[in-house]
Amino acid sequence: LTRTVDGDVSLELVVRRNGQVIGMQGMNGPDVAGTRRLETGSWLGLPFQGQGLGTRMRRMMCALAFDGLGLDAVTSSAWEDNAASRRVSEKVGYLETGRGQAERRGVPTGEVFFELQPGGFVRGDEPVRIMGAAELRRFLGLA
Ligand SMILES: CC(C)(COP(=O)(O)OP(=O)(O)OC[C@H]1O[C@@H](n2cnc3c(N)ncnc32)[C@H](O)[C@@H]1OP(=O)(O)O)[C@@H](O)C(=O)NCCC(=O)NCCS
Repeated sequence: LTRTVDGDVSLELVVRRNGQVIGMQGMNGPDVAGTRRLETGSWLGLPFQGQGLGTRMRRMMCALAFDGLGLDAVTSSAWEDNAASRRVSEKVGYLETGRGQAERRGVPTGEVFFELQPGGFVRGDEPVRIMGAAELRRFLGLA
């Protein structure tokens, strides 16, 4: 977890299953106290993909964003051909806000941008327990 003097935030949480580190789920962005929004980003090790874990960890991070930090929105972006990432965003309730293009290994590639606000959050059945949110809010200037 870092926060620069300009208010740029980087929160990278480790995902563990049975004690083994299997991926990361992050939230990043500038001036979180002013914008009250962060961008979520994630990856899972190849053997752990496609089993619903990406959806679960994104839901946990969105619960932290809305219930723990009181953010107004989270955003995400995915390469157009990243079906798993796009599908996770859709399942969790993110709405498409636009499209663009960026270079991926030197090749112009389509990108899709998403946003989720608290009212649109599709939580699923699993309760999420959050610890340390008050301290985190204080550290991020959101208290
Ligand atoms: C993106 C990522 C975190 C998703 O996690 P995951 O555990 O694989 O995702 P889930 O199993 O929870 O859900 C994937 C969904 O995408 C769907 N999906 C996956 N590949 C697909 C494909 N080629 N076409 C259509 N749908 C696809 C799955 O069917 C599932 O949807 P469903 O539950 O409706 O069936 C993971 O795949 C990953 O780490 N990928 C590599 C890194 C990456 O791309 N990170 C995101 C950068 S934007």
